[in-house]
Amino acid sequence: MERLIIEAKDLVKTYGEGEGLTYALNHVSINVYEHDFLVILGGSGSGKSTFLNMLGGIDTVDSGEISVYGEDITQYNDKKLTLYRRNTIGFVYQFFNLINDITVLQNVMLAPGARDKERAMALLERVQLAEKKDKFPRQLSGGQQQRVAIARALNKQSEILLCDEPTGALDDASGKAVLKLLEEIHEEGKTVVLVTHTREIAGMATRIITMRNGKVVKEEMNEHRIKAEEVEW
Ligand SMILES: Nc1ncnc2c1ncn2[C@@H]1O[C@H](COP(=O)(O)OP(=O)(O)OP(=O)(O)O)[C@@H](O)[C@H]1O
Ligand SMILES: [Mg+2]
Repeated sequence: MERLIIEAKDLVKTYGEGEGLTYALNHVSINVYEHDFLVILGGSGSGKSTFLNMLGGIDTVDSGEISVYGEDITQYNDKKLTLYRRNTIGFVYQFFNLINDITVLQNVMLAPGARDKERAMALLERVQLAEKKDKFPRQLSGGQQQRVAIARALNKQSEILLCDEPTGALDDASGKAVLKLLEEIHEEGKTVVLVTHTREIAGMATRIITMRNGKVVKEEMNEHRIKAEEVEW
């Protein structure tokens, strides 16, 4: 068994009150093991982004614990959370979240600790965008922007990569290129947690967790993994 690196226990997050009370997370417990390619599957509103944002330290829980490498990040103060976001996890968003008024290369070099230009260029080559280094994000296609976002996440050298619907805003070919990149990154040893409502993508996972209405309703190993190449949707 691989090492347990993230242990989320009994997470609760609600919005609103009285008649309008919604459980975004209704007592959710999820483990992530080293070198997992964990896909969390669920329909719109099932709580996927809420859960991932908590793992990423960009949203707070009402109750529950999230132990990452043995430390409960829900107890972190702002300063520790900032460091956690900066160093411990990479995050890839559905709508890329690039900074629009700086270049592609500057985006990849944005984080403190990510300022090594040669390394940033090597990552841009890796995502096949070296020639776009001086362009601004708006001058790139969606698929290209998502690859920049992946290069930026990889530049953190964190072991854990969290992806929220990374192909959601992309056409089939660009989506596949992104999935191939994630597959390679996983094969090189990273732990990937990807949330999506696209069932076909779950074929790539080592493990699949299904959420519905803020709850985990199914957890399974994927015995017949497919390559990114074979994902059709
Ligand atoms: N800021 C908020 N205020 C009120 N309700 C919210 C807020 N954020 C999320 N919710 C609610 O929490 C639930 C879970 O939302 P979440 O964004 O986690 O879903 P999701 O599974 O990521 O959906 P999608 O596939 O559409 O991205 C939904 O019912 C949503 O309406
Ligand atoms: Mg979402």
